[in-house]
Amino acid sequence: MTQETPWYKDAIFMELNTRAYKDSDADGWGDLPGLTSKLDYIKDLGVDAVWLLPIMPSPLRDDGYDVSDFCDIFPAYGNMDDFKTLMKEAHQRDLRIIVEIIPNHTSDQHRWFQASRDPNHPEHDKYRDWYVWSDTDQKYKDARIIFTDSETSNWTFDPLRGQYFWHRFYSTQPDLNYDNEEVQQAMLDTVKFWIDAGADGLRVDAPPYLFEREGTNCENLPETHTFLKRMRKFVDEYSPETLLLSEANQWPEDVIEYFGDGDEMHMNFHFPLMPRLFMALAKGDRTPIEEILARTPDLPEGCQWGTFLRCHDELTLEMVTPEERQWMWDTYAQDPKQRINLGIRRRLAPLVDNDQRKILLLHSMLLTMMGSPFLYYGDEIGMGDDIELFDRNGLRTPMQWDASFNAGFSDAPTERLYAPVISDPVYGYQKVNVAAQEADPHSLLNKVRHLIAIRKQHTVFGRGDFYWRSFSFETKAVVAYQRKWEGTRIVVLNNLREVPVKGWIPETAEKFIDLLSGETILPGDYTLPAYGFLWLQPVGEKANIPSGPNAPQPGYLGSDKE
Ligand code: GLC
Repeated sequence: MTQETPWYKDAIFMELNTRAYKDSDADGWGDLPGLTSKLDYIKDLGVDAVWLLPIMPSPLRDDGYDVSDFCDIFPAYGNMDDFKTLMKEAHQRDLRIIVEIIPNHTSDQHRWFQASRDPNHPEHDKYRDWYVWSDTDQKYKDARIIFTDSETSNWTFDPLRGQYFWHRFYSTQPDLNYDNEEVQQAMLDTVKFWIDAGADGLRVDAPPYLFEREGTNCENLPETHTFLKRMRKFVDEYSPETLLLSEANQWPEDVIEYFGDGDEMHMNFHFPLMPRLFMALAKGDRTPIEEILARTPDLPEGCQWGTFLRCHDELTLEMVTPEERQWMWDTYAQDPKQRINLGIRRRLAPLVDNDQRKILLLHSMLLTMMGSPFLYYGDEIGMGDDIELFDRNGLRTPMQWDASFNAGFSDAPTERLYAPVISDPVYGYQKVNVAAQEADPHSLLNKVRHLIAIRKQHTVFGRGDFYWRSFSFETKAVVAYQRKWEGTRIVVLNNLREVPVKGWIPETAEKFIDLLSGETILPGDYTLPAYGFLWLQPVGEKANIPSGPNAPQPGYLGSDKE
């Protein structure tokens, strides 16, 4: 069933970590009441839906992605009543909340796993086959290792059970056995639990790995899609407005399968686009973006891409070629400590040398190119990262609210904070914080807010078709495209280079209004400043044929004809 008003097509999403957002009870950990107290800030930024990183009980070996109980709240974050209050307050502000579920695996501390591994456990018989056990570690050899920096095998021996268990991520995260109908049902029960608790959507973690089959790479298997369709069918019948947002980090031709015929996931992230935005920026050449969009299929009715610049994980380089990966590492992670697994553990601002022009240019592309954008908490003020922290925790430090003690994040003694606040001279909270940027009309925060506000006025950005344009004499330097939806068209120009570029805007309209500045731009010559961008709305549409004194000759690259 397709939603009648697919709200997620027009939504701006923000991903955040409850632990990092706001501590309400001075224990050094952010919590649900703290987050609730900051909903006005989130709303004012222009966000429509918040995706909460895992909030369920967990030993935090993988920062909450190792769940020990799918139907409760991590105690330091609060309890189910706090969650319900958050939902109520969010809904009063027209904000939606997306909860993360992790169907592929549990923590090794989960009682299901404890019962499964221990032959003497009173519930062993029930849970014996809930995980993927084997007498040998030689099965499924074609499956890659994902956490290459910490794991050498997808199998770990459990001495209590005397067998190996399968895990695609950390060895503290045993994979559930989806060949077991009870496991499938338990995950549907989890979905139901969070819908009943009020969640507006679920982010479905790491779906490609649910099933294993010999002779395959154990990713994207038909059985996996069958189960995900079953999950969707349940949602459609039980709560059709609930969003299923999937994290399938795959090539476009594989990820398209996660939409099914519009009967699987409503949304998927477009992982391969993300590194190519950074690649194009550093090269001053739009080719990487062109190449990946050429490989990106149209979506079935009711489906939507999720796009992002950064997230809580490393900037993943799984969906690029080995040469491109090396180039990205050499360009964006010269310090080997900035590299992790097949990616880069840095936040947005440090990645682009804290250059506000580049940060805004990336946002311009994020907000206008395709799909629904996801912001990562703190990037809107240009927060930095802490390379000394374990794993990807350096990207998950406390939100910097003001220049006061502990960045206004917590009243706990500093040594009790779950992680140190960033306090270096460039990105430290004394300088980079919400309060300071709210007071400054030229701050990154206010500029990002402005871009978001304009994006939200134009449905075409979330729903429109995409067409490349080449209005520049240095075609590759400018990421130029047209979005079109129900009689509306908007033309977007983004200059990837650190020098002004000259170009030409065809006389397809009498004039254009730059939505961002309100200025009138006439067709003809133009110069885009270094890293500049324009979002142009035509006024007085004319035939869509290049003409005028400076019109490129017939046959020029990227004609404006469709
Ligand atoms: C997803 C999460 C990541 C986690 C992994 C294993 O990729 O985004 O943070 O480590 O799943 O659960």
